[in-house]
Amino acid sequence: MKGKIDLEKFLQSRKEVLATWPTGAEVSLEDGVNYHKALPPEKNFAVKLKKVKEEGITAIQPRAGVALLNEHIALLKYLEKEGEADFLPTTIDSYTRQNRYQEAQRGIEESLAEGRSMLNGFPAVNYGVYPCRKIIEEVNVPVQVRHGTPDARLLAEITLAGGFSSFEGGGITYNIPYAKEVPLRKSIEDWQYVDRLIGYYAEHGVLINRESFGPLTGTLVPPSITIAINILELLLAVEQGVKSFTLGLGQCGNLNQDVAALHGMVELAEEYLKRFGFQDVDLTTVFHQWMGGFPQDEARAFAVIAWGAVAAALAKANKVIVKTPHEALGVPTKEANAQGLKTTRQIVNMLKDQRFMVNEEYLLEKEMVKKEARAIVERTLELGEGDLVAGIERAFAAGVIDVPFAPSRFNLGKILPARDDTGAVRILEFGNLPFDSEIREFHRERLKRRGEKEGREPSFQMVIDDIYAIGKGMLVGKPRTK
Ligand code: 5AD
Repeated sequence: MKGKIDLEKFLQSRKEVLATWPTGAEVSLEDGVNYHKALPPEKNFAVKLKKVKEEGITAIQPRAGVALLNEHIALLKYLEKEGEADFLPTTIDSYTRQNRYQEAQRGIEESLAEGRSMLNGFPAVNYGVYPCRKIIEEVNVPVQVRHGTPDARLLAEITLAGGFSSFEGGGITYNIPYAKEVPLRKSIEDWQYVDRLIGYYAEHGVLINRESFGPLTGTLVPPSITIAINILELLLAVEQGVKSFTLGLGQCGNLNQDVAALHGMVELAEEYLKRFGFQDVDLTTVFHQWMGGFPQDEARAFAVIAWGAVAAALAKANKVIVKTPHEALGVPTKEANAQGLKTTRQIVNMLKDQRFMVNEEYLLEKEMVKKEARAIVERTLELGEGDLVAGIERAFAAGVIDVPFAPSRFNLGKILPARDDTGAVRILEFGNLPFDSEIREFHRERLKRRGEKEGREPSFQMVIDDIYAIGKGMLVGKPRTK
């Protein structure tokens, strides 16, 4: 690894970034640091998350964002009071995610004219530092920026100076599933800037949490691929001075696999932190309720939400990101959003004193997922020859890391996942994943079992059936009856 970006070089590049939109002129690092220091500690994301981890509870957090400031504040207040959210989000709109601030501005104006949100999130860059601070001051819990932005440098400058204390994403996880044409080197370097900025805050006594986006494409992503990518983003972040990092995982649906993956992810991440000499990092976890297609029927949607809450609670994830009964339809109403939170709260409360029962299958699952993730990370490090960014770039080009169903042309897209007979996500086509014969045999054997049960060879049709299964009321996709 090459180490922290040189301070002078960083300060120099900040000037260019802040000049890309007028609100950039409002940002001062000194003012940002002082603002954070004056906030009560219970509004700091990293501090609260550390406490949550120590208490062994699973905190709940929604997604939410609308175009107009006052409406956005009202929405967050509602989710805090009515939904009892432990952490609040600010979901950023799609124009801002693509640095199209002019169009975001038009979205704000149209929303004002129409009297309702014409954007799918809050355009924080257009509002600037002071409206962001108003959000932070109007609520009583920490607020995180959630988005999907390959180049989030200006967004980070404005929102962090604005008092947000957690920032989701990463150079891999906010590129590969979100963009088609952004080179990995570009997004990784832009995210190194974000991490360096957070490193700067840390150097000045302000803790900002960073979270990786675990679910990736949300479509049958084998957990080992998520884990490997999370570990690489963790290493990139801590190299730039990030001190609070949250590893993320999307629910697959088989309880053994989900719990084993979450635990395996933490064990492996701790191993790598130690190996590279980063001992002072607060490592936490977030579990995402099912990120794939949802049933339209709200009662069924609540069942999917509840099952995700069970997995998060039993795995003792530090935080769970909550879905809503409107998931199949689009951006939820505030009431639907609070309903998802309440369903989740009820489950995590009921399960808080229960432990996941360790069983043979869980142990095997954890061993295998760690083996797979380790193989990917090790090969990536080898390819980098001491340069982690180059290693990641080469690993994606070679298909050593391969995310299923990703739009990016910098992702090989040769692997195919499918569920086995117990609903665990396995790999049907390995592409160029650096897996040995033991790993391959494990996956083949599990898929064969399903094939035998269903009287068909494991094939692409299984993959299609699986993608639609939960929306249709099942976990494992069933063959169509003729
Ligand atoms: N408000 C609430 N939820 C949102 N999502 C995206 N934008 C918003 C928003 N503005 C949710 C989607 C999906 C997930 C990726 O984010 O419904 O569940």
